Amino acid sequence: MSIKKILILPGDGIGPEIMAEAVKVLELLKSEGEQLEWSFGHLGGAAYDAEGHPYPESTQKAARAADAILMGAVGGPKYDALPRAVRPEQGILGIRKDLGLFANLRPALAYEELAAASSFKPEIIAGLDILILRELTGDIYFGAPRGRRTNAEGHAEGFDTMHYSAPEVERIARVAFEAARKRSKRVCSVDKENVLETSRLWREVMINVSKDYPDVELTHMYVDNAAMQLVKYPKQFDVMVTGNIFGDILSDEASMLAGSIGMLPSASLDVNNKGLYEPSHGSAPDIMGQNKANPLATILSMAMMFKYTFNHNDLSDRIDAAVKKVLKQGHRTGDIAQKGEKIIGTKEMGDALVAALKK
Ligand code: NAI
Ligand code: MG
Repeated sequence: MSIKKILILPGDGIGPEIMAEAVKVLELLKSEGEQLEWSFGHLGGAAYDAEGHPYPESTQKAARAADAILMGAVGGPKYDALPRAVRPEQGILGIRKDLGLFANLRPALAYEELAAASSFKPEIIAGLDILILRELTGDIYFGAPRGRRTNAEGHAEGFDTMHYSAPEVERIARVAFEAARKRSKRVCSVDKENVLETSRLWREVMINVSKDYPDVELTHMYVDNAAMQLVKYPKQFDVMVTGNIFGDILSDEASMLAGSIGMLPSASLDVNNKGLYEPSHGSAPDIMGQNKANPLATILSMAMMFKYTFNHNDLSDRIDAAVKKVLKQGHRTGDIAQKGEKIIGTKEMGDALVAALKK
């Protein structure tokens, strides 16, 4: 891959503001000679306003042609009254499905400088750096049959079906092992093998795939225990990989270890490591247009893009280091400031980051 083609979808609310800061980073990298090319498109409410659909055809075309996609956030009260089919969330669901983004990566990293803001004791989270990997397209959320029926006793009954096929497990297993190779080379697979047949298959496939990665250590944990261990001693984990529903819950739990929502990046990958990168937070309509949003989650998502889609670990590490540096220098947006600390705006944080990133 010579020129890296990036599609930028700022979206709604604070999306355009945080994305403008991410673009400053791209501009700096390009000025240093990185082969980067980017264009802008619409997604979510902004796309509905401009083109009448949350994931319009122009965006579909651009998304398929891009190597990676950077997204802000979508949604907001302005769109709450729209019919379900054209609501902003349909934009995200649509692009995920269209691009086959089945692997959701959510790092949880505790910054020393922000330890005071965490609800955990410093010794529990100091130095924490884990990656939760959630399968995104299978499991009980999509399993058929599902629905309502009347049972033998005449009571109303709802039912869903949990299922995973071996290839579905295998592809997420490979993402986990590959990610572990870029980190501390440990994978913990989370399941409920003592009860669920789906989990028995999950575990078998994990073990099989692990044979291709002899340099990575594989362990297994039941999901209930994993939920406890995450708050008891989270540093025992490196990469944690799990199915859609367990991952939904565990990734939210893990995000609280790290502190502010304004610092949490995420990635969703397809089979070729093409990815959609976005902050974990939403469009924050309460602070939009006020130069208050923290752009760091978006910039950290971009760092993930360089790592996972472009295999450019050095660049990714450099951006991560620049984020640590601005925190060390004391730069704080409102969401990460402690009492008495000086608060800066979105633009000022972006500028500080770019200055810290400069060679
Ligand atoms: P939210 O994440 O937008 O906001 C929750 C709280 O965190 C708010 O007080 C907000 O001001 C603050 N916050 C969020 N990001 C921040 C940042 N970068 N810097 C500083 N503070 C930040 O979640 P909420 O309020 O539940 O949802 C608002 C809208 O966003 C809704 O329309 C929702 O559907 C949408 N949403 C979109 C997501 C996406 O695009 N992937 C994910 C979650 C929600
Ligand atoms: Mg969730």
